[in-house]
Amino acid sequence: MKANIVLLPGDGIGPEVVGEARRILEHVAGKFGHEFSFDVHQIGGASIDQFNSPLTDETLAACKAADAVLLGAVGGHKWDNNPPALRPETGLLALRKGLGVFANLRPVKVHPDLLSASPIKAERLAGVDIIVVRELTGGLYFGQPKKREMRDGHEYAVDTLEYFDYEVRRVMELAFRLASGRSKKVASVDKANVLESSRLWRKIANEVAAANPEVSIEHVLVDTASMKLVTSPATFDVMVTENMFGDILTDEASVLSGSMGMLPSASLGSGGPGLYEPIHGSAPDIAGKGIANPLGTILSSALMLRYSFNLEHEAACIEAAVDAAISAGCRTADLGGSLGTRQMADEVLARLA
Ligand code: IPM
Ligand code: MG
Repeated sequence: MKANIVLLPGDGIGPEVVGEARRILEHVAGKFGHEFSFDVHQIGGASIDQFNSPLTDETLAACKAADAVLLGAVGGHKWDNNPPALRPETGLLALRKGLGVFANLRPVKVHPDLLSASPIKAERLAGVDIIVVRELTGGLYFGQPKKREMRDGHEYAVDTLEYFDYEVRRVMELAFRLASGRSKKVASVDKANVLESSRLWRKIANEVAAANPEVSIEHVLVDTASMKLVTSPATFDVMVTENMFGDILTDEASVLSGSMGMLPSASLGSGGPGLYEPIHGSAPDIAGKGIANPLGTILSSALMLRYSFNLEHEAACIEAAVDAAISAGCRTADLGGSLGTRQMADEVLARLA
């Protein structure tokens, strides 16, 4: 097949990890007779520096016209004190919104040889295979913005957690579809004992559950969910939750896998290009050193092949090559090893060949 992929390396370690994922994709294209073309654009701080905007109209248009988008990471201390419109993160949020990718799939698995890389007891990690579905274009990240102001002599700031029923329904339906191809259970995570938006979330979840009787639903309060993620993670399968709850829970869940650097993600909407990115950030402290773990981004490119191009076999080959490299003892620094970014990708490439 032919596909046009937009690469958005972004900031910090982004260019390093995206560069390695590109090599993997090029290899897969050659091996299986596909034609992938790559179009590189700026986002985040890199785009602010060049164009004074964290996401230009041209870049967004290129992403919308692409078959899929692979992103590295955005952010860095250099832009930390910028006004909101000139923050790297604002570009990422505008991209997610602009592409309409409302569901962010974050699979969390634990390689058997990485059980000891996690601070969680190994016996609790066995069999962990979770997909967190994070709502991505609504919720607390996208409530009606208000400017910070003075009120009664005090500085005052507000963020709002808003949802329409249809926003909850579409991400819930996607979670149920996923679950019906897996172990047929969905954990819907909310804070319905306190938040009105969560009570709407739960109502819609129950409606979707009623229409999908073959999948069971469990409602879990977000505080309980965060505890169970470390005490009994293997009891979860598909977990679906609000934007910010999902952001927080997936950083927590990454601890199960041994390193943040391992986790990929796929952001999907209804039609249109998918957006693929590792869940980690730009890691300014190690940027440019060639030591970042590229596996989260490489695994994100596998998700791209699976979800955007329907190339299940090719996706599984990449995942198997990553597994085999880990099994052979290949480790970057975050996993206690000494392989560099390029070397780690070479180890994966060698197992794809
Ligand atoms: C993530 C990141 C982003 C988010 C930041 C960089 C805006 O933490 O993808 O999890 O909060 O969504
Ligand atoms: Mg995050």
